[in-house]
Amino acid sequence: MKHKKDYSFKLINNNNISLALILGSGVELENRLVESKNILFEDNTGVHHKLIYSCTMQGKAILVFKGRKHFYEGWSLDEITANIKTASGCGVENILVTNAAGGLNENFKDGELMLITSHINFIDKLKFDSSNLNRNFYSKDLQKKFLEACKMVNVKIHEGTYGCYTGPTYETKAEIRVQKKIKLDAAGMSTVPEVIFAAGKNINVVAVSVITNLLKENAVLTASHDEVLSMAASASKDLNKVLPAFINQLN
Ligand code: HPA
Repeated sequence: MKHKKDYSFKLINNNNISLALILGSGVELENRLVESKNILFEDNTGVHHKLIYSCTMQGKAILVFKGRKHFYEGWSLDEITANIKTASGCGVENILVTNAAGGLNENFKDGELMLITSHINFIDKLKFDSSNLNRNFYSKDLQKKFLEACKMVNVKIHEGTYGCYTGPTYETKAEIRVQKKIKLDAAGMSTVPEVIFAAGKNINVVAVSVITNLLKENAVLTASHDEVLSMAASASKDLNKVLPAFINQLN
């Protein structure tokens, strides 16, 4: 199926969608959670396999985006926000954005989750109509529901500030030093453009990082993309435990 420019996909039964879910690099959704599935779009070219499907989970209609485009791959802002445009075109009101991120907070461990409570945007290519934007990008209500879900299934989650960079490389030692100094808790190369764009469309957003690697100034090795992907896949287990309890709380 070709990705339509108007980004409005025909959904089975015209169901009201309870949630759009963006799965970041390596973040997996376990099949056991998916009750029925309707593939809307698939693209296997490029670094990140892209798949869009509607499905039911906990009896609710969910729109899933696996894979996203990044600035470091050379994509435009239009492509980077395409998932949000699709979600908005489908009448989505709630979005859970996930990503793989490097952990900066000394209390974090590989594979843990972090609820993004605020961000610092280091991408200078965001040219939106900002007239209806304020600084409350993250829905307090969805955050509360997500934290509640974590508690219900006994999954540890941190809360913190996400720094968003264009990339393409992971952090140098000097960059890690600065990021720690300004008290970022996690760093990555996605999410913030989507969050800002979604807020402009009046969509409620909650965003969660999967900490795939720890950014340590004195470590000899830096993370590789493959390590990040495999850690994200294994760390997704906690996210998959939380999802049903989170979705249960949505309309
Ligand atoms: N830095 C930036 N982006 C990332 C990282 C990182 O260490 N890990 C996963 N995405």
